[in-house]
Amino acid sequence: MKNTNIAIIGCGNISVQYAQTLKPYPFINIKGVYDIDRSRAEEFAYAHGTSVFDSIDDIIKDPDISIVVNLTIPRVHGEINRRLLVGSKHVYTEKPIAMTYEEAKGIVALAAEKGLMLCSSPITFLGDTQMEAARLLKEDITGKIRLVAAQMHNGMFEKWHPNPSSLYDVGVLYDVGIYPITYITYLFGPAVRVRAFGKVLMPERFDLQDRAFRIKKPDHLYAEIELASGIHFTLNASFLIDYMKRPASVEFVGDKGVLYLGSSLFFRSPLRFAEHFKPYEDVADTSGAYDGIEWCRGLVDMARALDSGTSPKADPYHALHVIEILEAIEKSLNEGIQIDLTSTF
Ligand SMILES: NC(=O)c1ccc[n+]([C@@H]2O[C@H](COP(=O)([O-])OP(=O)(O)OC[C@H]3O[C@@H](n4cnc5c(N)ncnc54)[C@H](O)[C@@H]3O)[C@@H](O)[C@H]2O)c1
Repeated sequence: MKNTNIAIIGCGNISVQYAQTLKPYPFINIKGVYDIDRSRAEEFAYAHGTSVFDSIDDIIKDPDISIVVNLTIPRVHGEINRRLLVGSKHVYTEKPIAMTYEEAKGIVALAAEKGLMLCSSPITFLGDTQMEAARLLKEDITGKIRLVAAQMHNGMFEKWHPNPSSLYDVGVLYDVGIYPITYITYLFGPAVRVRAFGKVLMPERFDLQDRAFRIKKPDHLYAEIELASGIHFTLNASFLIDYMKRPASVEFVGDKGVLYLGSSLFFRSPLRFAEHFKPYEDVADTSGAYDGIEWCRGLVDMARALDSGTSPKADPYHALHVIEILEAIEKSLNEGIQIDLTSTF
C-alpha cells in the first residue's frame, strides 16, 4: 500500500492514543498537527516527531495531506468537518460528525456531493471480540433475538481526564452511550423509535485541580430503542459508576439462550453463551485479540479503502442515523415522550 499523509486537528487526550496505535502502520504518516492551543500541538509534534501547522487553512492548502483527522472537542466537530470538506479533504472524525442531526446530515451530503470520504468513530464494532460476537450471532447461536441489553458507563472520569468539561457538556449519551448504539445498529440495522428516562444525579463535579464545575445534561439514563427488525434494545449509560466496576457489557437474549459480550468497547473481552437457566461458558478463545482499544483501526481501514478505491467499513450514513438516535433520546429525556425516527442506512 502506498504511503498516506494525514494531519491531525486537536492534540488533546485521545490524540496520544491515535499516535500510539498508529505506530504499527508505518504507511500512515502524521505529516503535521494543529491545535487552537499551540502549546498542545507543539508538545504532540515533539513527542511524535512531526510538525505543527499554523492554521486549518494551511492543512487544507497542503496537497500532500490525504486525510484530515478531527480530534477536537465535540462542539466544534461540525464546523471543522464542513470546512475540511469544502476544502476538498477526506475526513476522519471523532464522534459525533456534528452535534445536531440536521448539521450532520448536511455534512454527509456535502461529502457525497464532492466525492470525498467521510468516516466517523466509534469504530469499536471492528474490535476482534465484537466481530467474533457478530460471527456467532450470524451462525444463530442464540436463535431468534428478542432483546439486546447493553450498558456503557464512564463513571466520574474527571478523576483522570485533564479536560473533562467539554465531554460533560455533551453528556453521557454522546460521550459513551454512542458506542453500544453504534455497535448494536451495526449488527442489527436501523432503529425506528426511542423512549428514554434520565436525570442529573451529581450536578457539581471537581476537576483534577479541584475546581468545581456544574453539569446540565443527565449523568445517568435509560433508553429503550426499538429496531426496525423488531429487536428491543435497552441501554443504560452513566457518569456515576465506571466501566472498571460495571463493564460495558452486552447481552443478546434469544430463544435458545444468551450470548454475553463482556465489553462493547475493549477489543479483547469475554464472550460467553448460556442456554436459559444454565451457567455461561466461554465460546471463543479471545487471547489473540487486541488488548485494549485500537483507536486508529477505522482510520487505517479508511486509508486502505482510499488506496484501493473500495468503501470504508465506517459508513457515514450509519453514523448519521446514530446521531438521529442520540438526538431523539435527548428529546425523549427532556419532553418525556416517545420519538419516532426518520432516517435509515
Ligand atoms: N479522551 C478519551 O478517552 C476519548 C475516547 C474516545 C473518543 N474521544 C473523543 O475524542 C475527541 C477529543 O476528546 P479528548 O478527550 O481528546 O478532548 P481534549 O479536550 O483532551 O482535546 C481536544 C483538543 O482539541 C483542541 N481544540 C478545541 N477546539 C479546537 C479548534 N476549534 N481547533 C483546533 N483545536 C481545537 C483543544 O485545544 C484540545 O487540545 C472528542 O470527540 C471525544 O469524544 C475521547
